[in-house]
Amino acid sequence: MIFVGELSDLPPGESARVQGEVAIAVFNVDGELYAIDDTCTHQDASLSDGWLEGCAVECPLHAACFDLRTGRPSGPPAKKPVRTHEVLVQDGTVYVRESAPVGADAPVNEVV
Ligand code: FES
Repeated sequence: MIFVGELSDLPPGESARVQGEVAIAVFNVDGELYAIDDTCTHQDASLSDGWLEGCAVECPLHAACFDLRTGRPSGPPAKKPVRTHEVLVQDGTVYVRESAPVGADAPVNEVV
């Protein structure tokens, strides 16, 4: 698990960036915490620097919006989703459990 910080340091409307295998952005949306890959799938912009709009974040570079629950972009210029990650709060401390790398959950042909 990746240590993010104290919940009190991440109030509603704020974001934090932590380093996992790749950079991860953590957002507090009205008390609900969400984590997604920090780098936009369009170009090299940091989504933790973007603007929260409800349960989505708008990329600061070309304004693609990513749903924080699914990682999916709502439209161009981004086409691919970002990964989402599990957020845990233990004793007032926030952690992220990083999802598997892209492609790791691809279906595997089973030999029966
Ligand atoms: S870099 Fe995010 S929309 Fe272009």
